[in-house]
Amino acid sequence: MQESILILDFGSQYTQLIARKVRENNVYCQIHPYHHFPAPGPETKGVILSGSPYSVNDPDAPVPDLSHILGKVPVLAICYGAQLLVKLSGGKVASSNSREYGRANLTRIDHDCPLFKGVPDGSQVWMSHGDTILEYPGSFRLICSTADVEACGYRIEGQPTYALQFHPEVYHSAHGFDILRNFLMEICHCQADWTPENFVKTCVEDLRETIGQEAVILGLSGGVDSSVAAVLLHKAIGKKLHCIFVDNGLLRKNEFQDVLDSFKGMDIEVEGVQAAPLFYNALQGVSDPEAKRKAIGKTFIEVFESEAGKFESARFLAQGTIYPDVIESAPVKGPSQTIKSHHNVGGLPEKMNLKVVEPLRALFKDEVRRVGRSLGLPSRLLDRHPFPGPGLGIRIIGEITPRKVAILQEVDAIYINALRQEGLYGKVWQAGAILLPVQSVGVMGDERTYEQVVALRAVDSTDGMTADWSRLPYEFLARVSNEIINKVKGVNRVVYDISSKPPSTIEWE
Ligand code: XMP
Repeated sequence: MQESILILDFGSQYTQLIARKVRENNVYCQIHPYHHFPAPGPETKGVILSGSPYSVNDPDAPVPDLSHILGKVPVLAICYGAQLLVKLSGGKVASSNSREYGRANLTRIDHDCPLFKGVPDGSQVWMSHGDTILEYPGSFRLICSTADVEACGYRIEGQPTYALQFHPEVYHSAHGFDILRNFLMEICHCQADWTPENFVKTCVEDLRETIGQEAVILGLSGGVDSSVAAVLLHKAIGKKLHCIFVDNGLLRKNEFQDVLDSFKGMDIEVEGVQAAPLFYNALQGVSDPEAKRKAIGKTFIEVFESEAGKFESARFLAQGTIYPDVIESAPVKGPSQTIKSHHNVGGLPEKMNLKVVEPLRALFKDEVRRVGRSLGLPSRLLDRHPFPGPGLGIRIIGEITPRKVAILQEVDAIYINALRQEGLYGKVWQAGAILLPVQSVGVMGDERTYEQVVALRAVDSTDGMTADWSRLPYEFLARVSNEIINKVKGVNRVVYDISSKPPSTIEWE
């Protein structure tokens, strides 16, 4: 039985961060929305209540029934969670119109409270509250205060329930990680057995049990997730795994061969399918970004389906789905919309009558990498930047032609190689080049040129949801710009993208 922490999500932007910090302590946890969560079982070592964009005084504030949690298992209530428990117990929480964000210091700490083991007086914490606890029931005992907020944290007498107004999960809470660890180890008494090695062992056993003697098909993208999924499956079922890697003509320079070579080195069978002409055909005359994505997605499914059909005995389709893709998030204020559609093999399993296996469903991206490392995957594969499914197709603005792809592949290769050579590749989260549908005047030798412009993009991010442009050194940019203009025929101008996300996105299309 895998011990677990249950995280109740009230829609906070930090909920996934709480989960990642718990997992960094080698403790498994699951996020569930506040209105739809499983009853704690024997494996549930504790419950964490997240923050929320709501005020507890909002008429539509989320209020779940916590009667089978409170007093039954250890609870850590953070921010909204802390205010909610006060309100539910008949205390008073005041809302102010202006939310307060930022640093504060713990001026008073109850050092007998196990939550604060090893946390010094004055420790910096990160506040984000519009609500303030004014009155609390007699069974509540204060465990910490700041200069401005007396009831900054409390525990409930007679039960293992603790609450904090600040966010221990964020980087700016100096001892936040220690506080979370104290909750897990000192209060929930977790074994901390969620390690990559244990994951591999149980995952391989589960895969063997689920799949039995059947064959499995897996679509490789050359990215981290599908590569780690392939290695796990290979470990579980060996030669009964059939991987398919489609060259859609929109990959990076040499990527098709590189990926095939690295899997050959691991003795994993990969069917490389060269299908570039089919994709270029489907993309002829298409310039709208979403229409391009749809054309690429549709062609991919057609190619994949026809290749997969060759493995008649296969009963399973494996996918590299990871935890952020499956978390059902709590409804939050404000409209949420799909900004860009991401393609996958949608509809294929039903059509081909295949069952889906998703060995990485429980893992965050950083955990996928840790698992990959423990399986011995090379760092060149594991530490790759994210690369979108539609590839260079959404980095060529407007219509795609083989010539434009060839130009962009050269530019991209010069840029990415230079990042590697200068030790900058691992420092940026994602980098790539964009071919613009713009020609500009230049002069080379004595000749006037009228050629294309490329933009270079590099961003710092943790999950791609928000990003800032990377402050690459001017000298580096100068060198790369020179090399591109000198070596890539058809390009006479290079610009660097200095937009953050939001309001821009990482990709241009
Ligand atoms: P944006 O451009 O939305 O990108 O800021 C965020 C992350 O998602 C990747 N991305 C995609 N990945 N199919 C994918 O598989 C897509 O259509 C797609 N569009 C963007 C992008 O590269 C970045 O890592």
